[in-house]
Amino acid sequence: MEQYEITSKVSVYSYDELPDDEKKLVDMAREATQNSYAPYSHFYVGAALELNNGVRMIGCNQENAASPVTICAERSAVFAAGAQYPDVPVKKLAITARNDDGFLDWPTAPCGSCRQVLLETEYKFQQPIRILLDSRNGIHVVETIKALLPMQFVADSMKSNS
Ligand code: THU
Repeated sequence: MEQYEITSKVSVYSYDELPDDEKKLVDMAREATQNSYAPYSHFYVGAALELNNGVRMIGCNQENAASPVTICAERSAVFAAGAQYPDVPVKKLAITARNDDGFLDWPTAPCGSCRQVLLETEYKFQQPIRILLDSRNGIHVVETIKALLPMQFVADSMKSNS
């Protein structure tokens, strides 16, 4: 029997420690929670991404009475970017969330489906996405979605015997 461990590094920054472009992304993600359509969960998630060309775009969760139809903030941002700038890599993504009592003490990490979409985006552009998970106790940063999604499945996974 063999074993191995899969570890990830998460860096925690205060807001003031972030470079200006990342402060801006966090601000935009926080503002984007205002646009959430979350009448069912009352959980308002905002995302903001920065593309390689400097363009920044937001996303937020959009719920539906038919709950599986709901789209998360992260996918709303990434798909909007894919629609408008299909050839420009996503460089950074900030995510934040609040409920009716305010922003949360601990970061909201992307759901499994969003992680897979972010993985596909990294794969498509062959570029990691720096992900900033905002909370009231700091901004938790990973350098790639792979840190949140060990043992990934990508297109190459279907030809790993060649
Ligand atoms: N949600 C997101 O937008 N992103 C996440 O990473 C987690 C969950 C949304 C989906 C739904 O509208 C609400 O949060 C509760 O699950």
